[in-house]
Amino acid sequence: MDRKKYTQLTYSSISKLENNNFIDIVDYITDSPDRKYAVIKINYEGRLYILKVCDPLSPKYFKDLFNTEYLFYKKQKERLIHKNYSGEYFYMIDFIDGETLGDHLFSDTNSKINFIEVFKCIDLFYKTYRQNNESIKYTNLFYYANVLFSSGPRQNTNKIKKGKIAFVIKQICVLSLHIITFTLKFRNTETFLPGLSHGDLHYNNVLISNTGPEIIDFKNIRSNEFFLFDIIFLLTIIEKKTNLNDDLQDIKSKYLSSWESLFVYKIFKILANFNSRF
Ligand SMILES: Nc1ncnc2c1ncn2[C@@H]1O[C@H](COP(=O)(O)OP(=O)(O)O)[C@@H](O)[C@H]1O
Ligand SMILES: [Mg+2]
Repeated sequence: MDRKKYTQLTYSSISKLENNNFIDIVDYITDSPDRKYAVIKINYEGRLYILKVCDPLSPKYFKDLFNTEYLFYKKQKERLIHKNYSGEYFYMIDFIDGETLGDHLFSDTNSKINFIEVFKCIDLFYKTYRQNNESIKYTNLFYYANVLFSSGPRQNTNKIKKGKIAFVIKQICVLSLHIITFTLKFRNTETFLPGLSHGDLHYNNVLISNTGPEIIDFKNIRSNEFFLFDIIFLLTIIEKKTNLNDDLQDIKSKYLSSWESLFVYKIFKILANFNSRF
C-alpha cells in the first residue's frame, strides 16, 4: 500500500513510535482517511503485532467504536494488549498469522474450508462473551438487513442501479422483520442466543490461522441483542460464495430450527439477491 497516504493523516502517535525506533512497520492493512483510522502490521522486539490507530481528529462516532474495541481487548487476559502502547488512540494486539475467511471464500481453496471449526469458534465466542440482559434490542437485525441490500466488501464493484421495485421489496422485507421482532416478545428466546452481538460478523472479520479460526474486529460488540442474527447474516453471505456441502447444511439446520430464524434467513437471502458486492 502507498505509504504517502498515511503521512497525509496526522497519526502523530505512529510517527513518534517510528521515529524513536520503537516499532518497524511491516505492512499497512487498513487506511481509512474518512475515519482517520489505520490498522498496521508491525514488528516490535522481534514479534509481530497489529497496531490499531485512531487519530485524535477522527469523528466522534468512530472514536466511540474504536474505544469499544479497545475496552473489549483490555478485559481479555489471554489476548492482552501490549502494555506500553495501549491508550486512547492506539493499541497493539497479537498478530494472528492467517487469512480471512473471505480470502478463502474468494479463492480456489474454497472447498477446503472447515466450516465445522469456524462455527465452533463462533459458538465459543458466544459462550464466552454472552451477558444476561433483560432488554433486547434489534439493532443488528436491521443493520444486517441494510448491509445485505446495499453494502458489501467489494466496494469497487460497479453498483447496479436498483429500480423502484427493489426498494419496495426492501421495505416489505424490513416490515416483515419488524413483525418477527414482535412475535419474539411472546417466546422463549434462548435459541436466538440473547445477550451478545458481534455487530459486524462478516467473513473478513474471521481469520483462519494454523491454530484454528479466530474472530476479530470488536468495534460494534454489544450485549443487548440476539447473536443468532449475526450468525444468519454470516451464513447468508457465505452461501453467496460457496456451494452448500453437508457440513454447511448441518450447521444451517442447527441454527435455523425455529420458523422465525428460517424466516429471517429467507428475508436475508432476498435482500442479498439485490446486491452484487458479496
Ligand atoms: N489480530 C490480527 N491479526 C492479524 N490480522 C489482523 C488482526 N486484526 C486485524 N487484522 C487484519 O486487519 C484487517 C482490518 O482489521 P479490522 O479489525 O477488521 O478493522 P476494519 O475492518 O475496521 O478495518 C482484518 O480484516 C485483518 O485482515
Ligand atoms: Mg473488519
